[in-house]
Amino acid sequence: MVILGIDTSCDDTSIALLREGPEILSNVVSSQVELHSPFGGIVPELASRKHVELIDRIYERALSDAHAALDEIECIAVTNGPGLIGSLLVGLMFAKGLYLSTSTPMVAVNHIEAHAMSIFLEQQPVFPFIALIVSGGHTVLLLFEEPCRYRLIGSTRDDAAGEAFDKIAKYLGLGYPGGRAIEEIAAAGQPDAIPFPRPMLDENNYDFSFSGLKTAFINRVKKHGITESSRPDLLASFQEAICDVLCRKTIKAARDHGVNSIVVGGGVASNGRLRALFSEWANREKISVLLPSRDLCTDNAAMVAITGSFYAERNLFSPETVRGFSRMARG
Ligand code: KG4
Ligand code: ZN
Repeated sequence: MVILGIDTSCDDTSIALLREGPEILSNVVSSQVELHSPFGGIVPELASRKHVELIDRIYERALSDAHAALDEIECIAVTNGPGLIGSLLVGLMFAKGLYLSTSTPMVAVNHIEAHAMSIFLEQQPVFPFIALIVSGGHTVLLLFEEPCRYRLIGSTRDDAAGEAFDKIAKYLGLGYPGGRAIEEIAAAGQPDAIPFPRPMLDENNYDFSFSGLKTAFINRVKKHGITESSRPDLLASFQEAICDVLCRKTIKAARDHGVNSIVVGGGVASNGRLRALFSEWANREKISVLLPSRDLCTDNAAMVAITGSFYAERNLFSPETVRGFSRMARG
C-alpha cells in the first residue's frame, strides 16, 4: 500500500509518500522558520496563509520525489489536531479535496500520536510502551497498549519543554526556534554548574511544569548577570534540568505501569543531551529506550503516513465530516 501523509499542524508544510514495509518514498518538509523568526515565535495567521500558498507545490514535489502518480495512492493520512487550527484546516481541506475527487480512503491522524509512531519508520518497538512526546507545543506521556490504542497519562501544566527552550532563547536573543541554539552553546558548559530546580519531580503523577524553571533562569540572570563566559554553564544547567526531569518522570511512568519499553519523539527528542541521558537510564534500568533519528523527531509527514497505515490495516477510516481540533483531551 502507498500512503500519502499530510501535516500542516504548525509552521511546517509537509507531505510524504510511504510504501508499506515501510519505505519512505518522499518526505518533503517546507519550514517557515524564516517567516516567523523576526517575531520570536509563530504568528498563526501568517502560518496558515503560508500553508495555503505552499501546499500545492509541496504536494507536487512529494509526488515527483517519489516518482509516483495520484492513482497509485491508496490511502490519505492527514493530521487533524492538535495544533494551530487555521494551519490544520489547510492540510485537512486539501486531504478532503483529494478524498472527494478520488474516493481514496482517508485517515485523520493525531499529531502527537504520529510523533510517537514515527519510531516505526525505522524500528519495531514492542507493545506496550510509554511514549514521551516533547515538542514546541506539547510535553505528554502516553501509554500505548497496541497500535491505535493509547491513553494520555501525563502532560505539562504550563509550558511545553520546547517552549521553555524557545522562550529562554528569545530572552537571550538567540533566535527562534531556540532548542538547537541552546544545545550548541550548552555543549561547552557544565550541566551541574547551577542547581536549577527539578519541577514536579517528587510529585506522584506524570505531569510536568517548565514555567517556573524558566522564571528561575531569568531571575538568576537578573541577579548575577550573564557573560560570554558564564553563558555555557547557565544554559548547560538549564538544559540539564529539563532533560533530567523528562527522563526521570518517563522512567517512573514505565516502572509504575510495568512497561519495559519507552519511545521518545518530538522536536526536543533531537537534543543530544536528552538522547545521552535516556541511553544512560536505559542501561542502568535495563529498559529499552528507542528514539527516531534526529530529522524524524521534528515535524514531518512520513510520521503521519505511518500512523495512518496502522489505521488503514484495521479499516479505521475517517468520514469526510471529520473536523480539526486544537487541543488534546486528557484521557
Ligand atoms: O516537533 P516539532 O518540530 O514541532 C512541534 O510540534 O512543536 O518541535 C519543535 C520544538 C521547538 O520548540 C524547538 O526549539 C525544539 O523542538 N527543538 C529542540 C532541539 N531541536 C528542536 N529542543 C532542544 N534541543 C534541540 N536540539
Ligand atoms: Zn510536532
